Amino acid sequence: MTAQKTAFITGITGQDGALLAAFLLEKGYVVHGLRLYSATDDAQRLSALLPNPSFRLHTGDMTDGGSLRHLITAINPDEIYNLAAQSHVQASFAVPEATANINALGTVRLLDILRDRERPARFYQASSSEMFGNAPAPQNEQTPMHPCNPYGAAKLYAYHMVRIYREAYGLFACNGILFNHESPVRGEEFVTRKITRAVAAVHAGRQDVLTLGNLDARRDWGDARDYVAGMWIMLRHPTPGDYVLATGETHSVRDFVTAAFACTGIMLDWTGSGLEECGIDRATGTPLVRIDPALFRPQELHTLCGDAALARRTFGWTPKTGFEGLVRTMVEADIAQLAG
Ligand code: NAP
Ligand code: GDD
Repeated sequence: MTAQKTAFITGITGQDGALLAAFLLEKGYVVHGLRLYSATDDAQRLSALLPNPSFRLHTGDMTDGGSLRHLITAINPDEIYNLAAQSHVQASFAVPEATANINALGTVRLLDILRDRERPARFYQASSSEMFGNAPAPQNEQTPMHPCNPYGAAKLYAYHMVRIYREAYGLFACNGILFNHESPVRGEEFVTRKITRAVAAVHAGRQDVLTLGNLDARRDWGDARDYVAGMWIMLRHPTPGDYVLATGETHSVRDFVTAAFACTGIMLDWTGSGLEECGIDRATGTPLVRIDPALFRPQELHTLCGDAALARRTFGWTPKTGFEGLVRTMVEADIAQLAG
């Protein structure tokens, strides 16, 4: 009989934290999660997990090394998934120092605790395709990294520290370089969920217009459930490394909006250009999508499209859900949520 494994997840209240916790509990793990003392949405994403006796929440903060050391000593985990972050790219321009403290130095705090331990846990770092910046697509592990916002720069520092601690101290530490991944529990401030919530609200007659920023930005959007499985598989491989997880397909924000409205039977036509561009209901002529210049970023990352061939070859990871399926799942979940 194999001993029950223990995992420690930072960022447990976020999209990936909640989905990974559910995934690991299903696999028979004891799951400990780090939540911020100020976290308000435990009930939202974690409500189904809270009654499980193998699931435990702890209060702490990535900016407080003492709380992290105390928890890791007490929990003695087999695996650590470092998912905590100030994860909003636009917000990182407003709070660059806090972003660096949480995303960059927070990671070093964890690595340094592991370095001192007799039996260090296997470590997964939530690295990001934002580290590539505007490097030409497709991006893979060999692509030069050139982030174009404070979030990407903080993630790049953490990425290098994971590699350095692996090489210098022999830690089993992996970077998952994940491209955008979404789900019905995606934060409402990210563009996909903002769109699917608005489409559901328009469908229910509760909203007239959706306002967006850059419709031309292209992202490689996958299903978050495929990606949390990939995090776990990465830590199963006998040797640690850095791996891209991506679908290999890229779509514009405009494509996502068009596909989301189509799920409710609304066909959009796009008219005008630049700030005057407008998405119009073909059947009624009603404008449903407009541009708000305040939603543009100081510097944009234009195109992400990942090449996950190394993860496929090394440990057989491939995403199961395609773009259309993802959009439909999110729209249907938001319609069901509104219906209540
Ligand atoms: P998310 O929903 O924004 O979750 C981030 C989590 O970090 C939340 O639980 C948040 O807590 C927590 N957190 C923030 N500041 C903290 C602090 N000082 N101390 C402790 N916890 C803190 O992000 P996600 O989409 O699940 O992404 C998970 C990780 O993967 C993040 O590191 C993100 O940068 C990275 N990533 C995400 C994607 C993607 O497409 N989703 C792609 C590549 C990389 P509160 O909820 O209480 O604020
Ligand atoms: N959020 C948002 N809101 N984005 C908008 C909007 C809007 O109203 N209008 C257009 N966009 C564009 C943004 O300019 C960006 O080009 C694209 O939509 C995607 O934005 P987000 O959904 O906010 O995600 P992101 O790509 O910036 O960052 C996400 O993916 C990264 C991986 O590539 C986050 O999850 C990061 O944490 C993650 O590392």
